[in-house]
Amino acid sequence: MQTPITHVRYVALAVEDFAAERQFLQELWCLNEEAAQDGVAYFAGRGSTEPFIVRLRKAEDRRTDLFAFAVGDRTDVDHLYASLRDDGVKLAGEPAELHSPGGGYGFRFFDLDGRLVEISADVKERVAEVPAAKAAIPQGLSHVVFHTPDVKKAVAWYERHLGLRVSDWLDEFMCFLRGKGSKHHCMAFLVGPPTLNHVAFEMVNADEMMRGLGRMLKNDVRLTWGPGRHTAGDNTFAYFQSPAGNNLEYTAELEHLPDDWQPRTFPRSPEIIDQWGTGRIAGPPTYPPLKPDPALWANDPV
Ligand SMILES: [Fe+2]
Repeated sequence: MQTPITHVRYVALAVEDFAAERQFLQELWCLNEEAAQDGVAYFAGRGSTEPFIVRLRKAEDRRTDLFAFAVGDRTDVDHLYASLRDDGVKLAGEPAELHSPGGGYGFRFFDLDGRLVEISADVKERVAEVPAAKAAIPQGLSHVVFHTPDVKKAVAWYERHLGLRVSDWLDEFMCFLRGKGSKHHCMAFLVGPPTLNHVAFEMVNADEMMRGLGRMLKNDVRLTWGPGRHTAGDNTFAYFQSPAGNNLEYTAELEHLPDDWQPRTFPRSPEIIDQWGTGRIAGPPTYPPLKPDPALWANDPV
């Protein structure tokens, strides 16, 4: 199957302290709150044409309500819906007009672990801003990474049902997947109980990523890992913990792959995830004991 998926459109997060997370995303992380209604806030990336890249609401515990993939057009939505239905994938509704900011046409389904995934097209684009140089403003969403108990099984599921392509493996514990374009990854899986690992936001270049890191340090935001440059994807990274405990990354310079790319497997070594060797300034990250996301197999409450 040739994938119709072009990129990750947004992630929908729920947190206990909505006010603190909202203020953080707007004022320090430098997203732009475009809309808010009924206790749900929608944040755009200033350099992105997506109407929003993060949806945030209040909940009793931290969870990932869903994430959304973009496809090219309405026909892609219908084709993918029919294919998932024929494959026996658990669906959460038929294709319909969407009511989130930017509208569009789409449907939702549950993946093998119970993550709710949205597929959409025909979403009304916002006008992307050109932020001032060296302002360290995240342009848009880069990728999402989830833990899953069996990485090989999850990768095979996404290859089979969505046509995502493997770009690289880190030993057998992490795998990077890409959509239709040449970007090295839009998604990755890492071994562990099924829950979110991190969400990455794209900076213009490594210099702006470092300036973003400086802004976090000045404001006492906890740097959990980095700065460094990954092997798979060749992107630079700095990971931070948001007030609600979400793991967020500023990244830049993600590799573009040729059409005839052959996936590599990086063997376990001290440099496997950090070419520069600077990642140890903070990290590599240790996680509190992970537990399955409470939102698994749940319909979207919004
Ligand atoms: Fe990342």
